[in-house]
Amino acid sequence: MQKKWWKESVVYQIYPRSFKDTNEDGVGDLKGIIENLDYVKFLGANVIWLCPIYKSPNDDNGYDISDYRDIMNEFGSMDDFNELLKEAHKRDLKILMDLVVNHTSDEHRWFVESRKSKNNEYRDYYIWKDSKNGKEPNNWGGSFAGSAWEYDKNTDMYYLHCFSKKQPDLNWENPKVRKEVEDIVMFWLDKGIDGFRMDVINMISKDQTFPDGVKAEGSLYGDKDSVIMNGPRVHEYISELNAKVLSKYDIMTVGETPLVTPKIAMKYVGEDRKELNMVFEFEHMDIDRDESSFIKKPFDLVKLKNIFTKWQKGLENGGWNSLYWNNHDQPRVVSRFGDDGSYWDKSAKMLGTCLHMQQGTPYIYQGEEIGMTNVSFEDIKDYRDIGAINHYKEEVEIKGKNKDDFMNYLHELSRDNARTPMQWSGSENAGFTKPGVEPWIKINPRYKEINVENQINDPNSIFNYYRKLIKIRKENEIVVYGRYDLILEDDKEIYAYTRTLDDKKLLVICNFTKNEPMFCMPEDIKYASFKTVIGNYNMDDGEIKNIKLKPYECKVYILQ
Ligand code: GLC
Ligand code: CA
Repeated sequence: MQKKWWKESVVYQIYPRSFKDTNEDGVGDLKGIIENLDYVKFLGANVIWLCPIYKSPNDDNGYDISDYRDIMNEFGSMDDFNELLKEAHKRDLKILMDLVVNHTSDEHRWFVESRKSKNNEYRDYYIWKDSKNGKEPNNWGGSFAGSAWEYDKNTDMYYLHCFSKKQPDLNWENPKVRKEVEDIVMFWLDKGIDGFRMDVINMISKDQTFPDGVKAEGSLYGDKDSVIMNGPRVHEYISELNAKVLSKYDIMTVGETPLVTPKIAMKYVGEDRKELNMVFEFEHMDIDRDESSFIKKPFDLVKLKNIFTKWQKGLENGGWNSLYWNNHDQPRVVSRFGDDGSYWDKSAKMLGTCLHMQQGTPYIYQGEEIGMTNVSFEDIKDYRDIGAINHYKEEVEIKGKNKDDFMNYLHELSRDNARTPMQWSGSENAGFTKPGVEPWIKINPRYKEINVENQINDPNSIFNYYRKLIKIRKENEIVVYGRYDLILEDDKEIYAYTRTLDDKKLLVICNFTKNEPMFCMPEDIKYASFKTVIGNYNMDDGEIKNIKLKPYECKVYILQ
């Protein structure tokens, strides 16, 4: 297996809006990140992924970019960014930028021009279509409710927007668009950044026949995603970007790719493919929800084990996994797959262990390292996510779905669960912004109990447990490169697996329940001695052939 720095890295994801506010306007900013680089360094991560910081009218919190070469006013200036990059590099921290090029903002200069007339030189930068029988060009629904097409009176045509109507999709069929993207990518790489996370990058190539999508029961629109993802020319486009720009720099790239299987993923990340280093898959995130009907499904551990194992095995030859539980689009994992009540501390540590001991590059989302939890806003008015707000309108106000059911869905799965401000301390506003200032989104009421200040000096905290997980990875090749194998496949309570490198095995045992199941070592695992690596309870085992696990207990051993 080829060794690479990005395989040995741990990424810390920052959502700048909610990280740290330094000028008392209730919005996090670049200075707030600079102030806390030492915090990230202390945690032990060595790469920072910044969610979009470019100029944006913030319809979708920066995922709607109006100028790719400038910084969002609320976040600061290009000087601030230059300082951030310099200060990060001084500490050996790398910076990954978010590249959002499936769409722009409707306030981007290109779109402002494009909508002016049918023969404007920017017209073909976007996807314009005539109406069909007096209606939208096809039945696609947008990811944030409503149709994916917006009628524009000016030229009597529709434009495609897979997300909000303020996020028109770029037309990658147009070579000029591809050239623009190359130039933007080069602009940032020449500044010295260390790579990109590429937003919904497998959506960029649309089937030019624009076929209808399948309409699920109860749905107003057809499903565009299964038509659009991994489109006909996507590999051509990414290879081109790689050949012309990416390959000229020593960087890391990770593509956000909904609806991929390991087989499809290998086309993006296979070492021989020269496209991307990693992708974010969604299979393990879709395990407990049905996004088309807004229903939370029960969690099923055996299913989760199967998914992870499929990915671990599917990419082990010539590919590489990204490992994540959390990001700015997902609810908090301790509330989702753990227990944020009595077993908050134990389950947060267990989940961290289960993920960090796998093969791949781990991504930690801000606040995960202190076990931040979901939030239940009672009123839809407290939600900020355009997805939550638009879907509420469509489901509750238009389709008449039960309001409490929908609010419960948001409590469990809304993206805003991840977006409440970082909890630095127990003082008013959680140290995110000055007391008295109103933050852009409400603080999670549990900040008094769950915050950095409480945990940073406590050797038994979740924070220090994460530090240890990272340290173990950095000090043990087996954690990075060892082969993964699932054991106790059918066990409904325990997720256990081994990692193998040369004559060593790492054994990882995780109890996903509040029960006390028995772990029984499979016969075929042979070893002469064992050594304790990490665990979330005291590890005083005399023998490890049969272990009665405590609630949410995890244990990691080296066997030799
Ligand atoms: C990605 C981002 C998400 C955003 C969407 C549209 O899924 O992670 O936050 O809303 O793309 O850009
Ligand atoms: Ca601010």
